[in-house]
Amino acid sequence: VDNQENNQRGAAQDERLRSRPIGVFDSGLGGLTVVGELLSALAGETIVYLGDSARVPYGIKSLETVRRFAREDAAFLMQFEPKMLVVACNTASAAAIDCLRGSMPVEVVDVIGPGAAAAVAATDGMIGVIATEATIKSGAYQREIQKLSPGREVVAAACPLLVPIVEEGRAEDDPIVLHVLGDYLRELQRCRPGTLILGCTHYPLLQRAIGKLMGPSVTLVSSGAAAAGEVRRRLSERNLASERKNGGELRCFTTDNKERFAELGQRFLDGSGARIHSVQYVGTDELEKPRSQTAN
Ligand code: DGL
Repeated sequence: VDNQENNQRGAAQDERLRSRPIGVFDSGLGGLTVVGELLSALAGETIVYLGDSARVPYGIKSLETVRRFAREDAAFLMQFEPKMLVVACNTASAAAIDCLRGSMPVEVVDVIGPGAAAAVAATDGMIGVIATEATIKSGAYQREIQKLSPGREVVAAACPLLVPIVEEGRAEDDPIVLHVLGDYLRELQRCRPGTLILGCTHYPLLQRAIGKLMGPSVTLVSSGAAAAGEVRRRLSERNLASERKNGGELRCFTTDNKERFAELGQRFLDGSGARIHSVQYVGTDELEKPRSQTAN
């Protein structure tokens, strides 16, 4: 009887663990592209998303500042007792993944490791990376690719204007978009890598235009999609995937205007079928408050 009771208690505990949310954070709206990928791959999961819109962009800030923001974002999400934490922001992944892995009481998945692995798997040839200035300067993609495939040639280009262009809602065939992309991609077009990593949350919204400019021989790898695959694999390995097969929920927090978040955010989710229903405001003063990382 004791054994039976223990088994039942264990099963109930496992079920509670499986029904916990996945915590996801980003510098603003862009990480919703990763949420879209997550909910497409794991339609039954609950996601608590924090978009730090008051302090966006991270991509032009120093790695020290981004690391501090990332620690605060992650600590805020701990109050929801997530079963996994996803750093959807490439810049935050580049700046803070080691620090978060060393300090958070939960498994942390970033976008750079999975993005680099997907690129290495997709080609034997040269790999191109486009991302924010801070991500490229950090050398995080370059290092991750070298770890997986020593000696591999990598060509990297920072594309700082693409984030504001996407946030402004410009169409992919807008002449300004094509002009800016043409300038940023010139060197990559010349090198013709086998794969190009879209190493920023915003770039999937320009995927068609980038694909056209690079030509059909270049495979585009979205780091967000690769990270969603990694989350699915890890949840299933640890028997932590939700028992629901669909009906997942998305709960959003933003550090800035929540109406603007809801209005602009939906575009980043399009194609995934996910919708923004609930957005709550949380001030950066709240994030900056010292807290215990396991706080409830
Ligand atoms: N989320 C950022 C990234 O993926 C882009 C926006 C920003 O610079 O904050 O690098």
